[in-house]
Amino acid sequence: MLLPPVTDPPRFDVLPGADARGSLEHCGVVELPRIQDRRGNLTFVEAGRHVPFDIQRVYYLYDVPGGAERGGHGHFKLRQLIVAMSGSFDVVLDDGKRRARYHLNRSYTGLYVCPMIWRELDNFSSGSVCLVLASEPYDEADYLRDYDTFRHAGSHPDTR
Ligand code: TYD
Repeated sequence: MLLPPVTDPPRFDVLPGADARGSLEHCGVVELPRIQDRRGNLTFVEAGRHVPFDIQRVYYLYDVPGGAERGGHGHFKLRQLIVAMSGSFDVVLDDGKRRARYHLNRSYTGLYVCPMIWRELDNFSSGSVCLVLASEPYDEADYLRDYDTFRHAGSHPDTR
């Protein structure tokens, strides 16, 4: 697969709505609040304010061995915010027309991924933790695990 160079993801002025799907235009960085303190910094996330969905599930990737790749799938419905809680990694997003590689390394920014986007994660630094806030409970039926099926589904009027 084509490996794009690392670029900066777009920053949102207005968070995308629930119907925004299937395009890299609707994926971008959300700046989270940061309370800086000599005792350590604090960041919080409120559903509907910093993420444009109700958070139904939280999961995290950790102890990722060097060189491992995660993801490699799309979702029909799922909306996600991906945060590098610790360390760094790359997120490759693909909407079937464009592919972009973003490097996440801040625990106070999140990458919002709308539905119908193919995503891959790699280049994990040692000890990194990838947090995902998700709009839906886990549902295998929501996954698109084959790239050609994803591309085909993305151009179909019922799933676009
Ligand atoms: P998967 O989403 O394929 O991982 P990744 O995209 O990071 O490579 O999930 C790996 C396994 O974990 C798969 O068997 C499904 C299971 N899983 C759950 O049971 N619940 C969850 O919330 C997630 C994200 C995965």
